[in-house]
Amino acid sequence: MMSLFRAEVVKAVLAWLVILGVLGGLGALAFVYSGFFNVAATTVDSAPLQWLLVTAREASIQLHARDIEAPTLGGAEQVERGFRFFRQECAMCHNPPGREPTAMSAGLNPKAPDLPELVEDMTDAELFWVTRNGIRFTGMPAWATSSYGDEMIWDVVTYMRASVDMQAADYDALDQRLPPD
Ligand code: HEC
Repeated sequence: MMSLFRAEVVKAVLAWLVILGVLGGLGALAFVYSGFFNVAATTVDSAPLQWLLVTAREASIQLHARDIEAPTLGGAEQVERGFRFFRQECAMCHNPPGREPTAMSAGLNPKAPDLPELVEDMTDAELFWVTRNGIRFTGMPAWATSSYGDEMIWDVVTYMRASVDMQAADYDALDQRLPPD
């Protein structure tokens, strides 16, 4: 008798769980279709959402870059090749040292980080992986789909490393010495 009673209780609880699950699913669907979720890039993300995005990004980059073997990065010539690539394809979002933010970089959400500041915490393989594959749901594009090959991506990794010690004047000097092609 006792065990039968228990089975009844378990069944009732399960039934309620199913009902609540269905209601929750319908509620979520109604929210999605309602348009109440604001997709505007001018929305300031809540702290929990920011935590989620940053944590997922860092963990994902670490996991996916772990099997990449970075070559030895070269000297000044490779920095210069990387600089050209950076100026052409990255500088409009990742503000170079001493430059005012562009209208585009100011409007990004999430913002494109200051590269010299963040490269200290990232390995060469991680920088390569992010540049090659981009970051979903953000403005960070993948370069794997471009006609630039992996070598060019290693060049820009070399430039990012070198940019740690760059002042505004160093960047301007490179900019003047290496006119765009
Ligand atoms: C259209 C704007 C845009 C362009 C162009 C762009 N980026 Fe980004 N990048 C972003 C944004 C936005 C993020 C931040 C993504 C996030 O917060 O998850 C980012 C993130 C990154 C990161 C990872 C930062 C981290 O915290 O892990 C690296 C490295 C990077 N970009 C390098 C580059 C390089 C190199 C180029 C050029 C070849 C480039 N980006 C071009 C917008 C851009």
